[in-house]
Amino acid sequence: MIHIAIDGPAGAGKSTIARKVAAQIGFIYVDTGALYRAVGLSILRAEVKPDDVKAVMKLLPQIHISLRFEDGVQKVLLNEEDVSEAIRTTEVSMATSKVSGIPQVRDFLLSLQRKIALENNVIMDGRDIGTVVLPDAQLKIFLSASTEVRAQRRYKEMKDKGQQANYEEVLASIRQRDAQDMNRKVAPLKPAADAVRVDTTDMTLEQSISFLRGIVREKLGL
Ligand code: DC
Repeated sequence: MIHIAIDGPAGAGKSTIARKVAAQIGFIYVDTGALYRAVGLSILRAEVKPDDVKAVMKLLPQIHISLRFEDGVQKVLLNEEDVSEAIRTTEVSMATSKVSGIPQVRDFLLSLQRKIALENNVIMDGRDIGTVVLPDAQLKIFLSASTEVRAQRRYKEMKDKGQQANYEEVLASIRQRDAQDMNRKVAPLKPAADAVRVDTTDMTLEQSISFLRGIVREKLGL
């Protein structure tokens, strides 16, 4: 199987770019953040604090997460309920970023991610795909952009969806998530030594997609 790992901070454009490139080359796109978000959502629903490690561990055996692909679109199922929309709130983002620092949560999701990759050609995006989940991926990309540009993109996305948004709040939330994701002890966000680094600060989405498509063509001949 061929594996492409795309890691990077929130708002770098990973999911949109990975989804488009995957469709172009006929690979399955796996958004691993959605798996962590499903755990974050379970914890919020159970009214368990994301930093209460014991309570989180107690809850894990009751959580069953699976992925379904409909016309190439990933759906996340939490105990058979489709939670693909419910996991996209700011509240879930913050709880998820905290809970994803717990080693048992990471172990819990590791085998599911590896199983999907064992059975499919994938573009998998996340924070630790190139470093931990798929260390033998044939191509690793680390995608980043300046904090301000990532916040602007997220702000615009929320406005476009008709959601309430405040730029300063979005920026603060991105900064907090970056700090949590980069400073945790297990599987912190960092580029793999052999990752191709791409900075999309000055690129439009279309330019980023064709740039990544070019790297895939050049490195893998696809
Ligand atoms: O990619 P995202 O914003 O949907 O991810 C949500 C959170 O999940 C993010 O703050 C960190 C965590 N995460 C992780 O720790 N490892 C991954 N492979 C993917 C996401």
